[in-house]
Amino acid sequence: MIYLDNAATSYPKPESVINAMVYAQKYVGANAGRGGHRMTARAGEMVYSARDKAGNMFNCESERVIFTCNCTASLNTAIKGTVQKGDHVIVSCLEHNSVLRPVHYLAEKGIITYSVAEVDPLSEEKTVRNFISLIKNNTVVVICTMVSNVFGTVLPTEKLGAELAKRGITFIVDAAQSAGTYRIDMKRMNIDILCVPGHKGLFGPMGTGMVLIGDEADVAPLCQGGTGSFSMSASQPDVYPDKLESGTVNLPGIWGLKKGMDYISSVGGEEAIHRKEAYLCKILREDLSVIRGVELYGNIAGKNPAPLVALNLKNLHSERVADMLNDKNIAVRAGYHCAYLSHHTCGTENSGVLRVSPGWFNTKKDIKNFVFSLNKIAKRDNL
Ligand code: ALA
Repeated sequence: MIYLDNAATSYPKPESVINAMVYAQKYVGANAGRGGHRMTARAGEMVYSARDKAGNMFNCESERVIFTCNCTASLNTAIKGTVQKGDHVIVSCLEHNSVLRPVHYLAEKGIITYSVAEVDPLSEEKTVRNFISLIKNNTVVVICTMVSNVFGTVLPTEKLGAELAKRGITFIVDAAQSAGTYRIDMKRMNIDILCVPGHKGLFGPMGTGMVLIGDEADVAPLCQGGTGSFSMSASQPDVYPDKLESGTVNLPGIWGLKKGMDYISSVGGEEAIHRKEAYLCKILREDLSVIRGVELYGNIAGKNPAPLVALNLKNLHSERVADMLNDKNIAVRAGYHCAYLSHHTCGTENSGVLRVSPGWFNTKKDIKNFVFSLNKIAKRDNL
């Protein structure tokens, strides 16, 4: 199979990730932080070394790195643990449903109100101004994706962070499509809470994610329970990570995620990964531009375009094209990508888009094969 759906989850995973998961399951089968025997101590060390790795990668204190089961869980934790009744929040018009739905749910319950900021793909300054113009007296949080999961639009996270920091507004960033592909420094970028999936750009297994809490931020727990600490108290511990990490952690997943982050370092870091994926997308865009009936979406004018290409073939629904590619053993994602707002913003509610997202393990040959097959579909349908 030619796998070009890395924005949904990266595949394949490095061998070191798979071996790490097998090692954890086979040799460290104890519950981290529960009990005092040798194997539980080893499990605890492994979890802490993964926390350290993530803390270094994103410039966050290690104990403020919280493991979750995916980026959606991270975003729910961050959003619901930060807002209070009467608050106003702002999101971008390119948010995934993992941001939109929790925010909309809170609004439906009458807890908060929210506004949607327009993103101008051609002007970072204008986008930042759009956010700032929506700030009210009761605005406490801005939640913003760093990269659109549908169109690859890169939002001006750093500039927005600087403006929000001046105003004391909490900045929650959804790094679902950027962690592992872009260098993210929470302190430099004034990100208060960073939500990341483990299984996309970080090469970890599915079922892993993290929420990283900056020094100035505080998040109330969504879930309470056993933490292996302060067990004689009925109250949830007020220290991180215990405050937000109740219940048995996913040790094989976390250890696999640690090795995924190590893998990024071993191949030259996020910049090396971005360079390769952006190169594949550049070839892809060039080749697509000569196929009749191809409509390309997204802005690639910026210096560091995201490594995904959104397109449609004229008069064909994106899902139909994806089905035809599937018959050729090519995996891409079509349709609506769990991102109602993005399609509404870009006028693709009817067709959806075909999203091609190359990853680190793809080759130029994969791209050429994809283009060859798409061209055949376009010719067959006389576009
Ligand atoms: N959010 C993931 C995507 O964009 C699953 O495909």
